[in-house]
This record gives sequence, C-alpha cells and structure tokens, in this order.
Amino acid sequence: MNIKIAIIGLGYVGLPLARLFATKYPVVGFDINQKRIEELNAGIDKTLEVNDEDLKAVLVAKPLESIGLFCSNNLEDIQNCNYYIITVPTPVDKNNRPDLTPLYKSSETVGKVLKKGDIVIYESTVYPGVTEDECVPVLEKISGLKFNEDFFAGYSPERINPGDKEHTVEKILKVTAGSTPEIGEKVDALYKSVIIAGTHLAPTIKVAEAAKVIENSQRDINIAFVNELAKIFNIMGINTHDVLAAAGTKWNFLPFKPGLVGGHCIGVDPYYLAQKAQEMGYHPEIILAGRRLNDSMGEYVASQIIKLMIRKGITINNADILLLGITFKENCPDVRNTKIVDVINALKEYHVNITIFDPWANPADVLHEYNIVTTTKLPDAKYDSVVLGVSHKEFLDLDIEKVRKENSVLYDVKGVLKINVDGNL
Ligand SMILES: NC(=O)c1ccc[n+]([C@@H]2O[C@H](COP(=O)([O-])OP(=O)(O)OC[C@H]3O[C@@H](n4cnc5c(N)ncnc54)[C@H](O)[C@@H]3O)[C@@H](O)[C@H]2O)c1
Repeated sequence: MNIKIAIIGLGYVGLPLARLFATKYPVVGFDINQKRIEELNAGIDKTLEVNDEDLKAVLVAKPLESIGLFCSNNLEDIQNCNYYIITVPTPVDKNNRPDLTPLYKSSETVGKVLKKGDIVIYESTVYPGVTEDECVPVLEKISGLKFNEDFFAGYSPERINPGDKEHTVEKILKVTAGSTPEIGEKVDALYKSVIIAGTHLAPTIKVAEAAKVIENSQRDINIAFVNELAKIFNIMGINTHDVLAAAGTKWNFLPFKPGLVGGHCIGVDPYYLAQKAQEMGYHPEIILAGRRLNDSMGEYVASQIIKLMIRKGITINNADILLLGITFKENCPDVRNTKIVDVINALKEYHVNITIFDPWANPADVLHEYNIVTTTKLPDAKYDSVVLGVSHKEFLDLDIEKVRKENSVLYDVKGVLKINVDGNL
C-alpha cells in the first residue's frame, strides 16, 4: 500500500512525529491553530522541539505529491491519506476530570474524510478504553463506516520529554497496538520503519493505553514519596538531597528528587486513570494520595521560603523576592500547568513583591495564560530572597550573589545549587 499519513495536532508530540515520518513518507500535518500552521510553513517551531533547519528540510509545497511535510488547516489536504495519527491534547477540567473534547473534535474531523481500509491511530495519553469506546463511535457516526470491517484503529503512546534533545522521538522505543492482530502488525510496521529504538507490539489497544498512563502515574507517585520525605526531613533539620545521595548508593534505590510536578503529563495523567477506576467502582488510594501531595507542594515551598526569611529577621511585608524560572520544567518554553504559579500565588498572600526572571518563557504567553509579568533579562537589583524554581541551564552558572542582599535567603526548589538548610551557598 502507498502510505500517506495525516498527523492531527501539531504540538509538542505531533510536530516531531510528523517531521520524522516526513523523512520517509508523504505527510500532511493538520492543526486547527492557523497561526501555528503559518509559523510551521515558515520553518519556525515555537515549542523548540524541532530545530528550524530540520523542519525546513522536510517541508514541501504541495500535499502528498512527494515525501515530505505539508502543514495545513484545510480538511481537503488530508482527504487522500490512509493513516490518520491523532496527537491532540488530553487535559483535565477545573475539577481534575478528563476533558476528551479535543479527542472528540479531532475524531469528527477524521470521520469526515475516513475511507474504507484507513487506519486511525491515537497517540494522546488516555485511560484504557478511550480509543475504542469513546473515539471509534465518533468515527463510525461521522463516516458511516463500520469499525474493524471498513476502517481500523491503533494506539501508540508518545514518550517524549519536552526539552530533552537526547531522547528524541526516533530514539525512544515505541509501544504499538491495533484493533485486530493484523492491524497491530501493520501499525507496528509503520512505526518500526522510522523508530530507530524499535517497537513493542502490545496485544490490545487497552493494554497500550494502560501502559502509557501507568508510566506517568508511577513517576508521579515516586516523586510524591520523595516530596513527603523532604517534608519530614525539613522538620528534622536534615538536608533531603544529602539523604537521597547517601541512599542512592544502593543499587536498587530509585533516584527521584523532590519538586513541583507540573506540565500536562505527569501531573494530569494519573487523574485519567483515577477517574476511570472510580467510574468502575474502585477508589484509588495511592494514585490520588500522590496527586494530593504533589499538588500541595507549591504552597509548601512558599511557606518554607517565608519561614527562612522570618528566621533571618527579614520583614515580610513588601519584601522583594526574585524567582528564577516559571516554565513547568527546565530548558523548555512550556508554561502550561506550571506549578511555579502555585508558589507565586501562595507568596502573594504574604504581601511580598515578586520579580520573575525566565530566559525560556515567552512573557506574552505567561501574561496570557496567568496574567503574570515576567522578564527574560536578569534584573539589575538586589533581593531579600532568591528562589530557584526551575533548573534552566542558564541558572546553573548565574552569579546569584549579584542579585542577593547581604541578609537574604536563597531557596533552591530543584536542589541543584549547593546550599545549606539555612538558605546559604
Ligand atoms: N508534551 C509532552 O511531552 C507529551 C509527552 C507524551 C505524551 N503527550 C500527550 O500527547 C498529547 C498531545 O500533547 P502535546 O503536548 O503535543 O499537546 P500540544 O498542546 O502541544 O499540541 C496539541 C496540538 O493539537 C492542536 N489541536 C487541538 N485540537 C485539535 C483538533 N480538534 N484538530 C486538530 N488539531 C487540534 C492544537 O492546536 C495543538 O497545536 C496529549 O495527550 C499529551 O498528554 C505529551
């Protein structure tokens, strides 16, 4: 078969995948965000996941006429594809319940162009059952075609880590699955043709869906455990990082670090699994305890900073605090669901002045998303407290003393600076 691929949703996951497939197949990248399409066609990836030269190298002027990537928000451009890969967001609502709207909407889009023999593969992170029980009925309804007779489905979760230039999409082993054993083989073969690290064909779509959601839930729970340890050791006056370094010398001690769990994966995906479990009558204990603990860390960090300042005799009302970093993780411009905002909100209740310096975050994005002002330049001022919230590479060799008042607190959320429990280098 002449493979022609449509990637639906060109974000952190969709674009690197589209670029990779476009080195071997004709690919149309489809997104509802017109601005994103315009930027991509100009060879610019604002998420910084694909560098401009690599993007420009695969761009083609017309859809599906040759190997390469054509980006579009026009449905006609994807109508002649035979593989549709859906990489749209899977957020939670304000009550932490899964919001499947982008999945329903993108399934409607694909339903409009679906033809006999086509395969629709979902990559978005979901709970087990979303592909076959939620998305496939939309495809059937809109297309009028019958599942596993006229068209087929697949699932292949994405494991990329934004900002990580080492573990790029082709270098991460990929789990694959199909709606029948034969389709599983086809889906697997498609990914195997571009993923250098190889693939793992799971027996069913639900297995593959479950595998992805537990990878992230496991990470969330492990981080919650070390966050709990950090709270205990803080009370005891013991440096948690020193404890973890000592315990880490045992061969099977897992190297997790305390911190804020933000972003739209680790801090969100466990809610997908928990919600489905609850719907089916099981109340998850550990998963939700981990979520609660991790979600409380922003407020905890703020209270620790204030306590250290009080201990040093610093007047809290109107004190000046410099916060280094606002993105949800290091060396990445993504500010969605960043837990630094929880720290900021908790600090504001103490009536302090907060300046936020982040060379990675786009100030317009932060203002739009949180109504918070940030700067990409280190301010020429001295602060009562300097808080390292994100370990961007620029902060590791920053002359922090230059921005500290003589009597000030240095608080390192990430544990990358060598400071003692009193907040001094
Ligand atoms: N970002 C990560 O590191 C990562 C890693 C692994 C898995 N995931 C999962 O992959 C999925 C996508 O995440 P992301 O970070 O790439 O999201 P993203 O927000 O960066 O990108 C999603 C893109 O989809 C587009 N979109 C939304 N609705 C659409 C629709 N109806 N039709 C077409 N396009 C539409 C948006 O405009 C956006 O460009 C999520 O399920 C996420 O949990 C993300």
